[in-house]
Amino acid sequence: MPIFHRTALAQELATHILDDDLAPARSGLFLGARRRTGKSTFLQQDLCPELKRRGAIVIYADLWEERDQDPGDVIIEAIREELARHESVVMRFARSAGMERVNMGGVAFTMDRVGLGKQVSLAKALAMLSDECQRMIVLIVDEAQHAITTDKGSNALYALKAARDKLNMGPHHGLRIVATGSNRDKLAMLVEWKDQAFFCAPMKEFPPLGVDYLNWICERAPASAALNAGALSTLFERSGYRPEWMQIGLNALALRDNWTPEEAAAVFAETIESRADSRIQNLLALIGLLSPLQSAVLRVLAAQGRRFVPFWNRTLETFRLVIEQDDGNDVDEPINVETVQQALDALKDKGFLWRSVHGVYALEEFGIREALEEGRLLTESTQRVTLMGRQAA
Ligand SMILES: Nc1ncnc2c1ncn2[C@@H]1O[C@H](COP(=O)(O)OP(=O)(O)OP(=O)(O)O)[C@@H](O)[C@H]1O
Ligand SMILES: [Mg+2]
Repeated sequence: MPIFHRTALAQELATHILDDDLAPARSGLFLGARRRTGKSTFLQQDLCPELKRRGAIVIYADLWEERDQDPGDVIIEAIREELARHESVVMRFARSAGMERVNMGGVAFTMDRVGLGKQVSLAKALAMLSDECQRMIVLIVDEAQHAITTDKGSNALYALKAARDKLNMGPHHGLRIVATGSNRDKLAMLVEWKDQAFFCAPMKEFPPLGVDYLNWICERAPASAALNAGALSTLFERSGYRPEWMQIGLNALALRDNWTPEEAAAVFAETIESRADSRIQNLLALIGLLSPLQSAVLRVLAAQGRRFVPFWNRTLETFRLVIEQDDGNDVDEPINVETVQQALDALKDKGFLWRSVHGVYALEEFGIREALEEGRLLTESTQRVTLMGRQAA
């Protein structure tokens, strides 16, 4: 499928990332955007090539793509792959491991000696790569929030922090870490929590595709459709800025080439609307299958976001209120720390929630909140926030 290139954005971000004098860029850059809005496409198709064009060594790890693997391993593997591409670096490793006489074709230095708690630490490996190539390294971690769902992932982030601090000082050529994520609450834990590897790294909203993209869509529609970007922008917003939905609208128009502009606009709008509607209905149907307590926990968490305190008495009361008053159900199971914990675990297993190694929960993706909002399930009761350290309001 053809894609729309975001050259100007790639240039702007590349300048920001590589700028040596820009202190914040040295601590890393975190980009947050919703699911399916084109983050990975942009990173791979526009940002990586631009960074390479400017001479950087770019390492890309998508922690979402390889979901069955530990995120820590995905990061380490991406680094090993890049190291293996540089013959001179491999030779240096081999020499430092006392393998002077081993040539490249033989059983030489194998990359599994690089990693956490291994002979060659990530910081050392990256420093050697940077020194040997005399170039800055940019490590892009896509969907970085997955790293803090496992111990190994968290440790890999700490190792990267150590590497970043090492390479950005002294005689090396610098290491920049760019991370993306599709839920701001999760990403925020990486940069706002004092014990996190990227505490204080700047976080930016990754801008959704804009009017230039919509113009590109208009050009790809049959001429008779006479679409215009202005009219499409409301629909694009309705799609949650997902390019796939615009493509589905285009596919509907590709069936004919003798539209009137009114017909074309109506068909495009209907396609998006029915897609939006079915996405929400599907999610609501899944939510309808949850137990009363699971459903209440999900809705209270969605309504309260980062202020959600799952186990406090007042929150437990809120769950009861939602079940009894909003849903008209009897509370026939006890609501206590154990049952709420079980509900949280079940919601995680069903793909509604995400859990960090610290045990903090967040919605798996923003779309769940949207569906709950549209289904009018985020009622006043769900928003009864428990304020820590204060009397109940
Ligand atoms: N610039 C673009 N032009 C055209 N189509 C695009 C563009 N960017 C993304 N898409 C399409 O949108 C879909 C989602 O893109 P992508 O996987 O990059 O998004 P994402 O935000 O990384 O998604 P996820 O949240 O699943 O990781 C893909 O089908 C992709 O082809
Ligand atoms: Mg992606």
